Amino acid sequence: MTKQTVKAGVVGWPIGHSLSPRLHGYWLQEYKIKGSYEAIAVEPEMLSEAIVNLNREGFAGVNVTVPHKEAVLACLDDITDQAKRIGAVNTIVVDDKGRLIGSNTDGFGFIENLKHSHTGFTASNGPAVVLGAGGAARAIVAALIDAGAPGVSLINRTRARAEKIAEDLTGPIRVVDWARRDAALEGASLLVNTTTLGMAGKAPLDLSLEALPKAALVNDIVYAPLETPLLKAARARGNPSVDGLGMLLHQGRPGFAAWFGVDPAVTEGLRRYVLDGLKG
Ligand code: ATR
Repeated sequence: MTKQTVKAGVVGWPIGHSLSPRLHGYWLQEYKIKGSYEAIAVEPEMLSEAIVNLNREGFAGVNVTVPHKEAVLACLDDITDQAKRIGAVNTIVVDDKGRLIGSNTDGFGFIENLKHSHTGFTASNGPAVVLGAGGAARAIVAALIDAGAPGVSLINRTRARAEKIAEDLTGPIRVVDWARRDAALEGASLLVNTTTLGMAGKAPLDLSLEALPKAALVNDIVYAPLETPLLKAARARGNPSVDGLGMLLHQGRPGFAAWFGVDPAVTEGLRRYVLDGLKG
């Protein structure tokens, strides 16, 4: 008996720029899996209809991307506690009863990227500084607290957004004014930029690393360019640094494992292949 082709995809609007089809397409080939992963353009008004129909259309599940990550919560049968806390879903799995289960794998991707790129990384090693308070920051702060970070200083231009995260995610979070970001680096063992500053076409992040301990790990979740001005500055003064591409690659693993039955590896070949997609 030939096994039916397993179907998955990514739902977003617009969807043309998503790297997920390239990521999952690479893994499908690598593991010789009879499956498909398609880009599915869904306008906001059509979201609930598209999600409700996933099972009938034979999908094992989908990833969810901008602008649907929050709105999709209302369309699901169950949501993991972690995704509820973050308030966003990026992965849907259709279970054996046809129920739609939503989860958020961004925090997993973030932690796994640091672990794989920097031997010996553990969040419980010391305090972290996180810049930014968008959706990515929310997932990252939750992941750091869950992984045992003894403290997180959360710094955002719009302080109220950082305060809202600190309120929603109970834990050792300290909100610091954007104007005090340089001094807040003192004693940190991890610095993460989740703002869009440093991205191609945007202003660089204006931050002095002088107070940052030399052993602190510096991570930027921006991956275009791969080496942002922040990572370059970190490297120049001898801090270990990790780029943002790995977070994107690792966040795809739980969905792929649930739909296709293999926990896929993040390899140098995969990195190169996905990076080629960025250029194209
Ligand atoms: P995402 O949900 O993908 O993380 P987002 O919600 O657009 O993205 O968040 C972008 C982050 O970059 C925010 O923290 C934003 O700060 P505000 O909350 O004050 O808008 C930050 N950001 C963008 N441009 C910035 C700038 N010029 N200076 C400082 N922070 C900036």
